[in-house]
Amino acid sequence: MTQETIQNLAAQLNVHSIHIRLFMSKFKTKPSEDMVRASYKKYVDESPRPFVKWVGGKRQLIQQFRDMNLYPPYAFDPEKATYFEPFVGGGAMFFNLLPQKAVLSDMNLELVKTYNVIKNDVEGLIKKLKEHKKKDSKDYFLKVRVQEVERLSDVNVAARFIYLNRTGFNGLYRVNRSGGFNVPYANNKNPLICDEVNLRKAHDAMKKTEIFHRDYKKVLEKAKKGDFVYFDPPYYPVSKTSAFTSYTKEAFLEKEQEELRDVFVKLHKRGCFVMLSNSDTKFINDLYSGLDKKIKIHKVFAGRAINSKGTGRGKIKEVVVINY
Ligand SMILES: C[S@@+](CC[C@H](N)C(=O)[O-])C[C@H]1O[C@@H](n2cnc3c(N)ncnc32)[C@H](O)[C@@H]1O
Repeated sequence: MTQETIQNLAAQLNVHSIHIRLFMSKFKTKPSEDMVRASYKKYVDESPRPFVKWVGGKRQLIQQFRDMNLYPPYAFDPEKATYFEPFVGGGAMFFNLLPQKAVLSDMNLELVKTYNVIKNDVEGLIKKLKEHKKKDSKDYFLKVRVQEVERLSDVNVAARFIYLNRTGFNGLYRVNRSGGFNVPYANNKNPLICDEVNLRKAHDAMKKTEIFHRDYKKVLEKAKKGDFVYFDPPYYPVSKTSAFTSYTKEAFLEKEQEELRDVFVKLHKRGCFVMLSNSDTKFINDLYSGLDKKIKIHKVFAGRAINSKGTGRGKIKEVVVINY
């Protein structure tokens, strides 16, 4: 299929042509135009969703990124290059892009173990989740919450992690200073504890994916020219009281944001496509201004309201920095 045909198909299906190329790269022999037209929508409708709710999850923003041409980078070649998401969290971008080759990482060890269990033993995980579902109650939640994670097998860590995420308040992951999970029971009527169809889809999406528990800086050791790196770090706080930096025990403040900017610039110089989300604050705008004429700051509206009371009502803005 020529580039022009792909462009036409993309226009008809109202998507960026890279999504068509990604879709086509999943077939062993190249599909015909009609086949792509017929099966693309089903593929999108049936693509996996993040298997955990995650604070700062990007699912709501992706359409805006696409509409504004911020994502994905047009020249990213899904057949040759690799996608990196070093603050993967719930992985909304990964599950949207569905790249052939990906390297995902995060500093949250239980989350990373869960990804690996979904990749390597999804059926074992489904079985354990069904057991949690049967026993679910506030008392049971509190018992599971105090379990010592270090003593559990990986599949039990993953099942506990998803169970607590689905039944805990707002899908928060929050740990205290000693690393203990401390979110209260949500008391929801019918929490979706074992979404087996989605877990199997996530498993399929991860076949050629490597998942690591490591600091985001390690991306520098692996990413090559042409690779696409998406950074969604803990955000720089909009105000002193709004800080949410407890996905892990470690803080992510000014010094860490500056180091991340340096990593962004290094990857840019190497020829990677780099995209980064953060809060629309003076600190972050200053950090990414005047670096190189190709590095541009865009503003998007997050679905969240600034606050629910009084005059501050309105949609909060975020920045997206890209170098392509
Ligand atoms: C804003 S969240 C990412 C949300 C994700 N994009 C989603 O859609 O769910 C930030 C993530 O960075 C991780 N993190 C914090 N510090 C890190 C570090 N130094 N290196 C790698 N990951 C880190 C946290 O555990 C958290 O999952």
